[in-house]
Amino acid sequence: MHVDETLLQAFENGLDPAYPEQSGIRPVILGYGEISTTFAIPAMPGVALKRMPPFENLDQIKDHKAIISQYCRLLTETCGIRVVDFDFWDMENRHGEKILYVAQSRLPEISIGHQILKSGNSPELDGLMDAVLDPLIRLFKFNRDNGDSLSIGLDGQLSNWSFERSGENRFSSLYFDITTPMLRIHGREKLDTGIFLKSCPSFLVWLVRWRFLSEVLDRYHDVRMVLVDLMANFYKEGREDLIDPAMRITNARLEREGLIPGMNPLDRPEIDAYYKNDVFIWTIFLFLRRLDRFMKTRILRQRYNFMLPGKIQR
Ligand SMILES: Nc1ncnc2c1ncn2[C@@H]1O[C@H](COP(=O)(O)OP(=O)(O)O)[C@@H](O)[C@H]1O
Ligand SMILES: [Mg+2]
Repeated sequence: MHVDETLLQAFENGLDPAYPEQSGIRPVILGYGEISTTFAIPAMPGVALKRMPPFENLDQIKDHKAIISQYCRLLTETCGIRVVDFDFWDMENRHGEKILYVAQSRLPEISIGHQILKSGNSPELDGLMDAVLDPLIRLFKFNRDNGDSLSIGLDGQLSNWSFERSGENRFSSLYFDITTPMLRIHGREKLDTGIFLKSCPSFLVWLVRWRFLSEVLDRYHDVRMVLVDLMANFYKEGREDLIDPAMRITNARLEREGLIPGMNPLDRPEIDAYYKNDVFIWTIFLFLRRLDRFMKTRILRQRYNFMLPGKIQR
């Protein structure tokens, strides 16, 4: 992975985050997550870029980088989760804003989990599930054994992993969604969630903090909920038909590992109810951020500094 620093600085200075397609150097969007946008710059092949919400000062950037690094180290060393290589680039742009980019190797689109799922068949589903259940079960045991002292959260959705084929219907997994590192030490999240709240209208921040944020973060520390979330997202990928098979694979595996008495087996009504609630949460969150963008750019005529997802198909 080679990051051209001069080019990245020029990109940042010409970027219109509210309307990225109108920027001096146009980014190619690789994917929208719930929080950030991942893109490439054609003149910098092989690199995927993630632009973090703006920070107030260099100390905040330093902290954020340290948490990401610690998070990835823990994932790899304690849970055997392979994480894509990454690097940080921070800069001050022409508006005097402190901006942090996380650069990663650009992974082939066809290797990303939800792409494989979309056209996947049942033996492939077996392979995919094995490749994520191995690391997720290790994560579950890690969190269980560490109790309150240290908990690692992870968003296990297939759209956060790249898969390499390692045999017929066998895959090895590589995790890349590292820009929202979730680490709890004695019950307290290390991440400064305030940076994500800045993209909501200020008069509604209290609502988001109270209603959504803790609920959303909680679930990523609970591996059972991570699994529910993973399967509920099959709806989004148009593969509702694979939810029951995935659930059976997962329950059988949990049973084999002797985890079932501690963890209830997954069941379908729960997954369906979860999905409805999840769509609600993210739709509201995105709506609030779009409202904020509208007010800032159209009414107040201010600069708007977040790259929001476009329309998400649900
Ligand atoms: N390193 C990468 N190479 C290629 N595509 C990527 C890479 N990282 C992310 N993407 C694409 O962008 C999407 C969102 O990225 P992700 O890191 O999951 O961000 P978020 O935290 O917003 O979910 C992914 O589902 C994937 O399609
Ligand atoms: Mg993601």
